[in-house]
Parts: sequence; C-alpha cells; structure tokens
Amino acid sequence: MDAVHDVVVIGAGCAGMRAAIEAFDTGADVAMISKIHPVRSHSGAAEGGINAALGNASEDDPVKHAYDTVKGSDYLGDQHAIEILCNEAPDDVYQLEHWGAVFSRTPDGRIAQRPFGAAGEPRTAYAADIPGHVLIHVLYEQVMKRDLKTYEEFFAWKLVVDDGRCQGVIAWDLVNGGLHTIGAKTVILATGGAGRLYTGTTNAYACTGDGMSLALKAGVALKDMEMMQFHPTTLAPTGVLITEGCRGEGAYLLNKDGERFLVRYAPNAMELGSRDVISRAEQTEIDDGRGIDGNVLLDLRHLGAEKILERLHGTRELSMTFAGVDPIYEPIPVRPGAHYHMGGVDTDVWGRTELEALYAAGEVACVSVHGANRLGGNALMETITFGKRAGKHAADWALSNTTVTVPESVATDAERELKELLDRSEGERPWRIRDELAETMHENFGVFRREELMHEQGRIVEGLRERYERVVVDDKGDVFNTDLTQALELGFLLELAECMVVCGLARKESRGAHARPYDFPDRDDESFLRHTVVTWEDDAPRLEWKPVTITKWQPEERTY
Ligand code: FUM
Repeated sequence: MDAVHDVVVIGAGCAGMRAAIEAFDTGADVAMISKIHPVRSHSGAAEGGINAALGNASEDDPVKHAYDTVKGSDYLGDQHAIEILCNEAPDDVYQLEHWGAVFSRTPDGRIAQRPFGAAGEPRTAYAADIPGHVLIHVLYEQVMKRDLKTYEEFFAWKLVVDDGRCQGVIAWDLVNGGLHTIGAKTVILATGGAGRLYTGTTNAYACTGDGMSLALKAGVALKDMEMMQFHPTTLAPTGVLITEGCRGEGAYLLNKDGERFLVRYAPNAMELGSRDVISRAEQTEIDDGRGIDGNVLLDLRHLGAEKILERLHGTRELSMTFAGVDPIYEPIPVRPGAHYHMGGVDTDVWGRTELEALYAAGEVACVSVHGANRLGGNALMETITFGKRAGKHAADWALSNTTVTVPESVATDAERELKELLDRSEGERPWRIRDELAETMHENFGVFRREELMHEQGRIVEGLRERYERVVVDDKGDVFNTDLTQALELGFLLELAECMVVCGLARKESRGAHARPYDFPDRDDESFLRHTVVTWEDDAPRLEWKPVTITKWQPEERTY
C-alpha cells in the first residue's frame, strides 16, 4: 500500500470538497483523489444557483421547497430524503456565505433569490451566473485552510474490496505514471455524472461516470439509471449550458414563427415549467418543423442590456463565443441537451451504499432527491447537504474502525490488467467507439424513447462493448497518458449505457425524463411508482426494483 487514510474522497467538486471538509472537521485524516485540479471540477460550470428556502424574496419555507421537489421528481423522489435536503438547505447556504461565498444581494443586503423552473417561490440563491465557480473556490479555500491532502491528477480506476468492505482505491498517477494503492477505512465517491454518454451535453469532458462504474464493479447497485435529464437550453452544436437563470430573469422561448410555444405545453408556468416538460415541448416543436436548424430561440432582448450585463454576463459571453450571437440584440439558438443524471449509486440519506465503508454524494449518487426530474438549483444544494452528511458519517465510521488490509494480489492483478491493455499493439482506437456511443445514445435514448430504438441501442452497446475488448492505446508513455485514461473512461461509459437501456426498457410508462409517448404515454403509479435498481452480474446488468418512500405527498396529476 502506498498510503493509508481514514477517509478517502474520490472527486473534488462541490460534493467531494464539502465531504472532505466535514470529515476533517469530525477528526479524521482525510485525502481527496481527483483526476483534475479541484477548481476545474465540473461543479464550477453551474450557472443557475442553489435552492434553499431562505425566504428572502417571498414567503417561503422548507415544506414548499419539498413539495416542489417531490412534484418536480414526478413522485419518484424519496420524500424522507427530500425533506432532509430542504430542511438543512438554509443553514448549509448560510455556512457557505460565512465561508465567503459572494452571493448576489437584495437592495437591503440579504442573499438574493431568483425564480427557477417548477419552483413555487423565488428560491434560487445565485452569484450572477457563476455560482458554481464561486462555490468551488470558496470550498477550495476551506480545503487549503485545513491543508487537506489532495492526490491531484490521480485517476481512480478500481475500488479495493476486501473482507466484505471497501478498503481503498487503486489510482493511476497522471503526472508521473504508475498505479498506486491508497488504503482507506472509508471511501466516498463524489465523481459527478456521466453526461459524456451523449454528443450534445452540458457536461465537461471529465464527466464519464467513473464513480458509478467503480461502484457497480464493486457489487454496489445503481438506481434509476434510465433517468437522464435533458436541459432545455443548450447551445448547438457544443452543448454549452445557457442557464435557466435567463428564464428566471424573464427570457422567452420562441419557435420559428416567433410564438411563445409553451402556452400550449405549460400554460401557467410557461418558461418556468419543469425541465422535462420544456425539453419535450422544444423537441416537439423541432420535430414538427417549427424549429430553426434543429433549435428554438431563447429571447433575452426585452430584459435590456443593463440586466443582462449585471446578472447574465457569463451567458452573454458564452453565446458570443460559441454561437456568435449577442443576446442583447439577437435571440440565442438553443436545444435540449444531456445535462444531469438523476440516477446513480444507490445510497441512504447518509450517503451509505450497500457495501460497508463505501459512500457516495452529489451527482454520482442517487439518494434519491431528484427522482425522475431534477429541479434547477437542487443539484448544487444536494452536493453541499449530502456531501456534508456523507463526510460526517464516513468520518465517524472510520474513527471507530481501525484496520485497513489490502491483499498484495489486488495491486498485482491491477498491474497485470493494465499491462495487457498497454501491450496491445493492434486494435481499434477508443475515440471511434466513444463517438458512436454518444451519437447513438442521443438518437436512441434521448428526450423521447421508443421501444424498438431502445432495443436497437441495447444491441449497439453490446457490439461496442465487444469492440472495446480489442481497443488499442497508442500512447505507451507514463506522463499525462490521456489516451490511456480515455480508454478506461470509455469502459465505464459502456457499462453505464447498458444499465440505462435495461432500465429504460423495463420502465413501461412515461415519468419525468423517461418519456415514451408512442407506447406508454402516461405515468403508471400502479406498476411503476418504484425505483429501478441494477447490479452487475456475469458481465451484464441485473435488474430489480425498490419501493419509493412517500411521507406526506401522494402522487397527483402533474401540470405546470
Ligand atoms: O440552468 C442552469 O443554470 C442549471 C442549473 C442546474 O442544473 O441546477
């Protein structure tokens, strides 16, 4: 073993850093492992804000927040977990403020809150349109202040499981090369999502589902994997996020005829309907010929230059840089793009997985507070609240359990496997398979889902996995071998895609992000008010179901 810690956190975005800080403050020796520098984590790309019922812009309270979240989830969210999130959110946001987060302000100096999709009150605290950037830097300051050990640019490849519990991780040192075994009494996965399964995605190149796959291969279940959220406003063709904050500030969505088409889909909430509803509306407009080059238009012009420059300056820059459009003068072309995985590693409300000493928090996890459709602003909140909770529990557990044993064979087996891959001199290049995977997922497992296309996607993924067996890594070197790590990431993505298809086929209803308008257009609470749960057995997903926890809110018809 190269090192041992009480708690090792894999991933150093908002969830990872928040977990590490809490574990350290609980008294544990903590280390983070991250394949990129912490402040380059994808959390930094969050543009909209963080939801907490602070009540600074209206009469709000955690119960209203919880109700909106339950309804937004299309009743698939676990209500006890949602109540925890909404109850703890205000204090957790004030904690961030006290650490120095520069939130935008009301005229009397309180944290400002903007309206967001499917929220009954203006609840989203923001820092112009760069809250992720602000939070990641505030958390990194706290990490620095505590002098927390960070294995920067280390790629976590395998979990160490011994004696029925997780005892560490095997990681590749990106800077110098070489595998390292880092032992841990507890491990927290905080690696984010898997948006790179799709061509059009808001997600960074780093979002390749690593933690989900690590957990799956360690025998841990993934939950609700069919639930991939499509964000309604992403820039073509890059998929760069254009924040919901634009609509929160009053932007309109228009079709090619200049019509605010949401009047036909979400007549009350209009542009502030929930994401699944708006993405479907846009896709319908586009499919029915009322789009423009595969897009609809996001019109900010009536907000005026002053507001755009003050609150949405990042959006303006992104639009100008990536689409050549200045939103002060022209509408922005947008389309639905893969944004957020509501599914992930099945955890309880302390981040515990079924494997002793393994935890997960943030997008990699499925607690589940988002169910079938996440509300904008709830992801950042989840990273903080559940990052904190996982850090606390993992540290407590580690401090009351003393041994870490990693058999010699764990490292030698990993070395052998890696050598086999690097020794291969002929085969297919990984990027071909990755591109095919992302394009076909978009085609066959997108906003709308059809039985035959999902079956087709299942066959495609199977074929890609066979080809992956013969993949060749051209770069045989040690230093920044991204050819190697991208090949390993592709392996993760392929397994997750297979899980998604299996779950999607099994869910024979329409709920939230899983829309089957052609064969099962309605939600079917009788049969499917339950979570899909997959484990990995004999090199394939095995599907089971798990009940949804209902506390206060019985399912109702969901309209906006
Ligand atoms: O649109 C956005 O700013 C995204 C926010 C979120 O996904 O929470």
